[in-house]
Amino acid sequence: MYPDEGSKSAALYRRARGTVADGVSRATITMDPYPLYLRSARGARVVDVDGNELIDFNNNYTSLIHGHGRAEIVAAVNEQLAKGMAYSFGSEAEVELAELLCGRLPGDQRIRFCNSGSEAVMHAIKAARAYTGRGKIAKCEGAYHGSYDFAEVSLGVGPGAWGEPAAPAAAPYAAGTPQGVLDDVLPIPFNDGEAAERILAGHGDDLAAILIDPISSLVGMVGLQPEFLATVQGLAQRLGALLIFDEVVAFRLGLSGAQGGLGVTPDLTALGKIIGGGLPIGAVAGRAEVMAVFERQGGKARLPHGGTFNANPLTMVAGRTCMELMDPGAFDRLNRMGEELRRQLREAFALANAEGQVTGEGSLFRLHLHSRPMVNYRDAWMRAEESRRMAELHRHLLNAGLFLSPYGSGCLSTAMEDHDLSALADGVLGGLRALRE
Ligand SMILES: Cc1ncc(COP(=O)(O)O)c(C=O)c1O
Repeated sequence: MYPDEGSKSAALYRRARGTVADGVSRATITMDPYPLYLRSARGARVVDVDGNELIDFNNNYTSLIHGHGRAEIVAAVNEQLAKGMAYSFGSEAEVELAELLCGRLPGDQRIRFCNSGSEAVMHAIKAARAYTGRGKIAKCEGAYHGSYDFAEVSLGVGPGAWGEPAAPAAAPYAAGTPQGVLDDVLPIPFNDGEAAERILAGHGDDLAAILIDPISSLVGMVGLQPEFLATVQGLAQRLGALLIFDEVVAFRLGLSGAQGGLGVTPDLTALGKIIGGGLPIGAVAGRAEVMAVFERQGGKARLPHGGTFNANPLTMVAGRTCMELMDPGAFDRLNRMGEELRRQLREAFALANAEGQVTGEGSLFRLHLHSRPMVNYRDAWMRAEESRRMAELHRHLLNAGLFLSPYGSGCLSTAMEDHDLSALADGVLGGLRALRE
């Protein structure tokens, strides 16, 4: 049972704290009183160092679309391992993954690879600045886009620092965020086109880009309303700013990502997670004319872009193999399973007679322990009592062998079967009933 101070995970965490600041290298995997340490992972399941088996609905925060250790990806990586891991040369593997991804995105696309979604967002913002010659960006209040200073503004901000609903504050996430960074980010409320108009209207001279995640987990995983999208598209066009889609997560929604479903062609797209087949990756893709900022003209690009491990062949072959396996049939099956899971989870709330709701799309889902209508970050923000109950539910699920993120979000992988879905729905039903008691 978790927690158990006598467990191997607890002991490893105590040891880790002697060398690793806060014990782990990712804020997102901390757990109180200690995180689990894994022994192995295969398909939809992971086993911790104490021998506990869990169904993994986190899938390394949505990056493992085939679950763990998909045979074809492992074989491709092994074959490449024997030929070299990373070198200061081009590789055919890079060209192949680039062709696959550009072929799936709409229009005449170019791409550059990097090593994380954070980098992808950063390079997309820098590309927009280089293209427009402007400095500011707009982003949706509370949306997570990785760990670039500008992308972090207004992240994790609580009610005390929100500011007016129609004029969210550019509040810092990290201590020491320079005032200049805060001055250059304009938060807009998700799904509020009127507010976006008001906030951005006067920025025709200095706004480089509007950054949107069409299905942001921290914004509640609520859908992007078509009217808001249309307003933002219109604004970007009118102001001469670029539209950047952060599809680091959303690209798992379909063959052409969220933009395919929405019928929109952003100027730039930040990619990551699934496109690396389980290995570290990021990429920025976009219209050829915009991506020309990366091209050398007269010896130097407007936006020079280096990176020792960019497009390393190991990641490239893993990504290509993973994405080839994600054909239209695979997306259909996965998204239908997502629909079915959300149905079963809603049924669990009804059967438990518990307050709550389920959001998400495709293979993504998030549980909420309240019933207020949700259209933006402030609606999704967990009140103190909801956070306490979510922590209890999370622990109940963990002890039932089910692993989600600590705030109740998760995703499916192609390694999952129908019985995995019902196991989660049963676990949630049991957890909600336990909460009532
Ligand atoms: C929407 C979104 N953008 C960007 C990132 C950053 O990606 P990475 O963790 O690979 O840096 C994440 C990570 O969770 C994300 O969810």
